Amino acid sequence: MRDDRITIPHLVKMKKDKRKITMLTAYDHPLALLVDRCGIDIILVGDSLGNVVLGYDSTVPVTMEEMIHHAKAVRRAVSHAFLIGDLPFMSYNISPREAVRNAGRFLKEAGCDAVKLEGGEETVDAVSRIVKAGIPVLGHLGLTPQTISKLGGFKVQGRDAKGARKIINSALALQEAGCFGIVLECIPDKVAGIISEKLDIFTLGIGAGPRCDGQVLVLHDLLGLYSGFKPKFVKQYADLSGDIQSAVTAFKNDIEEGRFPTKDFSFAMSDKEARKLNED
Ligand code: KIV
Repeated sequence: MRDDRITIPHLVKMKKDKRKITMLTAYDHPLALLVDRCGIDIILVGDSLGNVVLGYDSTVPVTMEEMIHHAKAVRRAVSHAFLIGDLPFMSYNISPREAVRNAGRFLKEAGCDAVKLEGGEETVDAVSRIVKAGIPVLGHLGLTPQTISKLGGFKVQGRDAKGARKIINSALALQEAGCFGIVLECIPDKVAGIISEKLDIFTLGIGAGPRCDGQVLVLHDLLGLYSGFKPKFVKQYADLSGDIQSAVTAFKNDIEEGRFPTKDFSFAMSDKEARKLNED
């Protein structure tokens, strides 16, 4: 194991020292390699791969097999970040026993360091059983995309006092059940601040304001590589879709107009061999 590899004690200390934690998603080898090289603390093989890589219109259809396939590719690239596999919809909701089995697959088959799952008090049994089996769990509260139809769409959660209190209680329950951290998605910054102060474990915000202990974004949103819905909380740092389209169009035009391949991209034959070829 590399000695600069991020572990849970590192992340716990970062919260204690008030140093912000960074997490990004990755789903394949080349991008995971680049993300890891930048020193990001946690890489999540998120089930958002359903939207941004597999072309589904939600995360609901994503399967364990798809998650494991992508997590293995990411594992082969990551040598610094703490690596988390995201349990897909219905892989942990049927029974705690099945939840433990599927969580175990991320560690045994894909080499992940931990798993993430969505939901509040209803997931406490599954969380504590997975943790008791020796598998670290990251919770996920607020806007939980796997149950978007129950939530009535992509809406900020916990905007009224009753809703906010429910999320705060769920965060406390997940901490009690043994989670080592919690993702807070799309909730008011005030609520995220209260949770981050109340909990000993760290919080990672996505659309939850600056008072969380760290931040997470979907890599393809940050890179401008996903043309679907772009939530208000996404800061786009690059326009890779634009760059890729310009490059592919330039390639097509170069071929059609005879600018590629030139001599520089071709292989020469000696004059002697060329003469022989002509004689034959
Ligand atoms: O699947 C995912 O990418 C996530 C992050 C948005 C936290 O759950």
